[in-house]
Amino acid sequence: MRKVLVTGGTGYIGSHTAIQLANAGFEVVILDNLSNSSKGVVARIEELSKRQVDFIEGDIRDHELLRNIFSQHTFDSVIHFAGLKAVGESEEQPLRYFDNNVSGSIVLFDEMIKAGVYKLIFSSSATVYGDPGYVCYSENTPLAPINVYGRTKLMVEDILRDLKKSQPKWQIALLRYFNPVGAHESGRIGENPFGVPNNLMPFISQVAIGRRSKLMVYGNDYATPDGTGLRDYIHVEDLAAGHVAALKTLGDVNPFITLNLGTGKPYSVLEMISAFERASGIKIPYEIVGRRAGDLSEYYANADLAKEILGWQAKLGIDRMCADTWCWQKSNPEGYGID
Ligand code: NAD
Ligand code: UFG
Repeated sequence: MRKVLVTGGTGYIGSHTAIQLANAGFEVVILDNLSNSSKGVVARIEELSKRQVDFIEGDIRDHELLRNIFSQHTFDSVIHFAGLKAVGESEEQPLRYFDNNVSGSIVLFDEMIKAGVYKLIFSSSATVYGDPGYVCYSENTPLAPINVYGRTKLMVEDILRDLKKSQPKWQIALLRYFNPVGAHESGRIGENPFGVPNNLMPFISQVAIGRRSKLMVYGNDYATPDGTGLRDYIHVEDLAAGHVAALKTLGDVNPFITLNLGTGKPYSVLEMISAFERASGIKIPYEIVGRRAGDLSEYYANADLAKEILGWQAKLGIDRMCADTWCWQKSNPEGYGID
């Protein structure tokens, strides 16, 4: 059975992907330092996939630990989710972000080479594109991130492009996610931000459950139909399926792939609020406040290449995104219970 090391596998996207990997017949080993996730996720992954999943608590920057892991397991591939992802925090603590996301990735790739593991999927982000002056981003959109977090993602992409040039046996997928939302349909796993959520969907769902009094809508004076920002929200289950498809597609015919994972259909903040109200039957109080620094008015994916190369496309729409988020939130009002 093919074995895959999933760094950051107890996190939001990693946990959903781990279940789909296990269901697709991959043996899953998770490495996570639990800096932004809970150990309890592992039991839920096992419960939902009905398969055993190995969990190692530790840091991708720990050379010795990685060497031990690679000597104890024979991996076919690595999916590298581990990273810090809060844009505002990255501006305040750049060294922490470069150390964790860039130095951590270098340690991981170095130990992969030493162990002879050359197949990798890397979690990149639409944030690598910055602000190109148009709203539909293809993979050829210039790479010019406008924040520290985005620059850490671009640096790791650059490192991987250079690694491929230096050692052609590498097989690498750079997957650029748009805005992941939603949860496993069981409501057993979902997004569990520690502290105040930075992102729209977890904030809305915490308002719905009564943990927060109202949502702040950051600006209604953008040049969009209702004045609020437009984003390409993608269901985390579709995103997870994209990883399984990428893992199966990587090989001699497709040794290096760079793909947007999005739906191609953007929604506004007000549309997301209405959809969530429909799904939950709960009114979401909100207040229009000023724009958030660094926000763009609108962007979404051209996701044609992922369809062509992977035969993958997002299937789940806005109503499922909201219904599944609400199912997770209402059955786990305090998340996994330790934040
Ligand atoms: P998450 O925070 O839920 O998951 C990341 C996991 O990595 C966490 O469990 C955390 O504990 C772990 N981690 C962080 N640093 C680590 C380290 N040094 N060693 C070991 N484990 C470490 O975030 P997520 O939303 O699941 O994101 C997964 C990946 O996708 C990240 O790399 C993120 O940058 C990227 N991404 C996320 C989004 C998004 O909006 N969620 C969008 C684009 C890209
Ligand atoms: N928004 C609000 N109120 C909130 C939170 C967000 O009005 O409390 C608005 C934002 O202004 C934006 C939209 O909701 O118009 C989406 O904001 P998010 O914070 O959910 O997502 P972003 O598009 O800003 O960024 C996210 C991740 C990044 C990632 C990017 C990829 O946070 O890490 O998607 O497209 F890089």
